[in-house]
Amino acid sequence: MPDVVLQDVAKHYGPAVAVANMSLRIGDGELVALLGPSGCGKTTTLRMIGGFVETTSGCITVGGRDVTALPPNRRNMGFVFQNYALFPHMTVAQNVAFGLEMRGVNRSDTDRKVREALVRVRLAQYADRLPRQLSGGQQQRVALARALVIEPDVLLLDEPLSNLDASLRQEMKIEIRQLQQSLGLTTIFVTHDQDEAMSTADRMVLMYNGKVEQVGPPDEVYGAPRSVFAAGFLGIPNLLPGQMLPGQQGFRLEAGPVLRLSGQAAVAGRCFLALRPEVISIHAAPPSDAENCLAGRVEIMTYHGSAVEYQLRTDIGLTLTARAVAPGLGGPALLPEGSRAWLSWPATAGVTVSEN
Ligand SMILES: Nc1ncnc2c1ncn2[C@@H]1O[C@H](COP(=O)(O)OP(=O)(O)OP(=O)(O)O)[C@@H](O)[C@H]1O
Ligand SMILES: [Mg+2]
Repeated sequence: MPDVVLQDVAKHYGPAVAVANMSLRIGDGELVALLGPSGCGKTTTLRMIGGFVETTSGCITVGGRDVTALPPNRRNMGFVFQNYALFPHMTVAQNVAFGLEMRGVNRSDTDRKVREALVRVRLAQYADRLPRQLSGGQQQRVALARALVIEPDVLLLDEPLSNLDASLRQEMKIEIRQLQQSLGLTTIFVTHDQDEAMSTADRMVLMYNGKVEQVGPPDEVYGAPRSVFAAGFLGIPNLLPGQMLPGQQGFRLEAGPVLRLSGQAAVAGRCFLALRPEVISIHAAPPSDAENCLAGRVEIMTYHGSAVEYQLRTDIGLTLTARAVAPGLGGPALLPEGSRAWLSWPATAGVTVSEN
């Protein structure tokens, strides 16, 4: 399967910039997730790749071939739209056959390919139903079969799981990943759900305001967000403003104290120390050997079954969130709201991120 390369691709709507000079290479057989908040340009990017939206500038190549000016039907890409966009008056089989008929494939080949595609998404026995006689997950699989039946070089998926309930979403996520891997399909998957992106993609592309904010394998992006936006979007609630001290061994909080740091790259000027709730330990008495410790009072305690989340108001005025293992699973005893508590974390625990 070919690679897809975007070179300085932009889309402007009048003065509004939906996508600004985006450059990205999606490797042969790779699954890349475009991730970001509503309005950041994910769908516009995907539609430009698919040929449904004209680019304002830049160039898109597939396997080295410039497709920028080609209509969708000459790009050989399978597209699954966010709302599935099935034809309501056509049966499942007719929906799947549509793309083949448009390409002038003969009747017997069409029948065979449709059958194979429906088997692949486990819908063979539903061929004669209408879309409204199917569940959301089944409709979603019809859309997937319709995209796959044309034997595309590239598969484009726009929030394909957004209308499904949690368990179906989990199931479909695994199915899409398995299909993609068994066919070796170069795939671009749009989502605003970081968990979905992390659990399916080889690489994530985090977008913000029409621009690429960060690209990398999920564990790398999750472990080392590069900006305050990335850290916040990836669900890190603790972002402490301050400045790194020379030598990168200390971090002076704007709220006063100096924290101990270790293993951090230098960031000049005002920046933030991002601390995941899981790396912060909570104690009912001052810990004796902590590298970093702040005292405070429990404001909110939320029980989550296997974990307990604490929101603390520290004495220096910062609010921090810590996540502890539940008492029944070996974690510390519950600390009720209003109680005095101490938070600690190792010098290696945080990540310093720049302001923007
Ligand atoms: N046809 C259009 N005309 C004018 N502006 C548009 C048009 N389509 C999209 N936009 C704008 O471009 C920006 C990016 O839109 P896009 O649909 O790509 O976002 P998205 O990341 O897919 O968001 P969501 O998660 O809500 O689907 C938005 O600000 C949107 O309002
Ligand atoms: Mg969208």
